[in-house]
Amino acid sequence: MPPISDSMPTLNPPTVLTFDSGVGGLSVAAEIRTLLPGVRLVYASDHAFLPYGEKTEAQLIDRVPALLAVLEARFHPEIVVIACNTASTVVLPAVREALQAQIVGTVPAIKPAAALTQTKVIGLLGTPGTVRRAYTQDLIDEFASDSICVRHGSVELVSLAEAKLRGEAISLDAVRAAIAPLYAQPDGERIDVVVLACTHFPLLAEELAAVSPPGVRFIDSGAAIARRVKTLLGSDRGLDHGPSPDGPAVLTRGVNIAALEPALTRFGFSPLEILDFTRP
Ligand code: DGL
Repeated sequence: MPPISDSMPTLNPPTVLTFDSGVGGLSVAAEIRTLLPGVRLVYASDHAFLPYGEKTEAQLIDRVPALLAVLEARFHPEIVVIACNTASTVVLPAVREALQAQIVGTVPAIKPAAALTQTKVIGLLGTPGTVRRAYTQDLIDEFASDSICVRHGSVELVSLAEAKLRGEAISLDAVRAAIAPLYAQPDGERIDVVVLACTHFPLLAEELAAVSPPGVRFIDSGAAIARRVKTLLGSDRGLDHGPSPDGPAVLTRGVNIAALEPALTRFGFSPLEILDFTRP
């Protein structure tokens, strides 16, 4: 007989709060739910301030820790996952200072991409903010110094992922046009691994594969984040068994967010709550 902790869901499951500017963090939440179905997941997004990719570092440092502090006071999460590369590459120190919970950030999967590339040309597809960050450059210098890293920052792909999750039809031509500048750069035709350095982009995995040269592989950080959360929570708490307790989705008031309700429910987040957050 397996030990009790392996077979019984825990009575008071720990809460993990997954946060993103928009729906992108759902791609990370899905990985956490698969690995740790016994955890109570809460989803929070800042649709009022989307897209983060076009905001300055100072704007994000001013806003994200303050918003997360409000969410922490409400949900008392054991872990907060910042499921957003654009925010994580700039706000992690400030968030760690402002919150009690353990913080897990999401940063571009440069290291595994460097291990995977045969051509030694990696594509880095993120938001305009993420691809120009010093943090991202440091990752490239540390883990991919023997490869060429071709970058492209796209705001359009973020909107397309949001539209897809609102249930709108998105055209492959629009996805093709949004990714084309990556492959059109010098060495772009030799890219064999693309790092999806924005959590919105795995939500477009099929579309991105359909418009990319055959053989290009895509890599993101979702599964690694889930493993990190599992390590931090500890393996002796019976969290790798379901059923998953439902948690709410809390969205700051943005345009058209009611249309996201069916997708949020599909990802296991219900009910949908609207938060009016104004930076004091
Ligand atoms: N999902 C976010 C990321 O991982 C960015 C989307 C945005 O620009 O707000 O970078």
